[in-house]
Amino acid sequence: MIQLIRGFKDILPGEVEIWQQIESVARQLLEDFGFKEIRIPVMERTELFARSIGEDTDIVEKEMYTFPDRKGDLITLRPEATASIARAYIQHKLFAQDPVQKFYMIGPMFRRERPQKGRYRQFYQIDAEIFGVQSGLADAQLIYLLVTLFTRLELADINAHINSLGCPQCRPDFRKALTRYLVSVSDRLCSDCNRRRDRNPLRVLDCKVPTCREALTDAPSIQDSLCDDCRADFDEVMSALDNLNVPFVVDKRLVRGLDYYTRTAFEIQTTSLGAQSAVAGGGRYDNLVRELGGPDIPATGFAIGFDRLAELFGLNAPDMIPRPDIFLAALGAESQALAFEWVCLLGKSGIRAEMDMGAKSLKSQMKRADRLGAANVLIVGENELKEAAVILRNMATKEQEAVPIDRLVENLKKRFNK
Ligand code: HAM
Repeated sequence: MIQLIRGFKDILPGEVEIWQQIESVARQLLEDFGFKEIRIPVMERTELFARSIGEDTDIVEKEMYTFPDRKGDLITLRPEATASIARAYIQHKLFAQDPVQKFYMIGPMFRRERPQKGRYRQFYQIDAEIFGVQSGLADAQLIYLLVTLFTRLELADINAHINSLGCPQCRPDFRKALTRYLVSVSDRLCSDCNRRRDRNPLRVLDCKVPTCREALTDAPSIQDSLCDDCRADFDEVMSALDNLNVPFVVDKRLVRGLDYYTRTAFEIQTTSLGAQSAVAGGGRYDNLVRELGGPDIPATGFAIGFDRLAELFGLNAPDMIPRPDIFLAALGAESQALAFEWVCLLGKSGIRAEMDMGAKSLKSQMKRADRLGAANVLIVGENELKEAAVILRNMATKEQEAVPIDRLVENLKKRFNK
């Protein structure tokens, strides 16, 4: 038997309803905040991701699905959406009329990470981006939106972590100070951290290895190195969150795994999902649009890990599998033909109707109606045809009544308010 590729998964009925519910709440909220949907391709030129996410990140170094196409051009299955949305914003000059644009997209991403609970090689994101706003108010609004979404989905155990990663003015000094510190504790750091030290020292700050965490207790904090502009910007984000009554923690270890960030970075974390604690992450990326060949336009955004959100939501979601409104149990060829016509007309009218499309005993049809959880059963047999009335049985109350065959679909539509 041919099985799934490792790290990929099917989302089966039973679970898919959770995804649909989350998606509809998320879309509504994003649109209420003025975000417009954008759909971008699942593949892009490799160079787009290498340049935006950064050559020295784990994603670009070892996690991208990259192939030469038949002509030998390198293409990559998108590991995230920000780079593609920025590309579309530049390519279609979406800034021309108004640089301020808000987009969202929902779809699959691909990263060849080591699979574990909450970490997949094909996973889904709900991504939102705001272009053209320099103010920290945009970052605060994104965090507010995320917290509102999680509250609307009735998820508890959600914490907003925020940090500022500085800018090209102040970050180099911090990098130097941090690298000096990392050299001084190098014998206590894991091999990954020692390897990252020279190329991407900030990443060392979020190493999960306990001995590394301990060795980093006295590491310099980026919060102490921010230039005046970055400090004022971060203060603005914090006071906006305070005014909106959004609780948050300033997490000086929060650095994110993509290189394009400047200033505010944030994550929504939970302790309910084990090791994969980030349900959403994002931040400001003021230089990306320019670096990709566009005008000098700031931007900020986030992506929610849809799989993780669905897992969290599923922890206390009731069974949401849709049940038939009515099961038509038919006996005899004539009744079967009539039932079939009714099933089609009922479906067209928005009433979920099911039947057995093959001659079965009444007992076996009633059993199947039960298994499907049908709310009602309509019994159509020779007697019923003779009487020109069928029997409608409410499966919960067990009450039965005769319903005339004449104008049956109209009659049922009224009963089901359709
Ligand atoms: P990211 O932190 O790489 O950011 O991913 C965002 C979220 O996607 C994570 O917090 C996590 O919930 C989910 N995620 C990431 N990798 C996996 C995986 N292998 N399996 C399951 N879920 C995963 C970004 O992707 C940025 N583009 C976010 C952003 C938008 N920044 C600015 N705008």
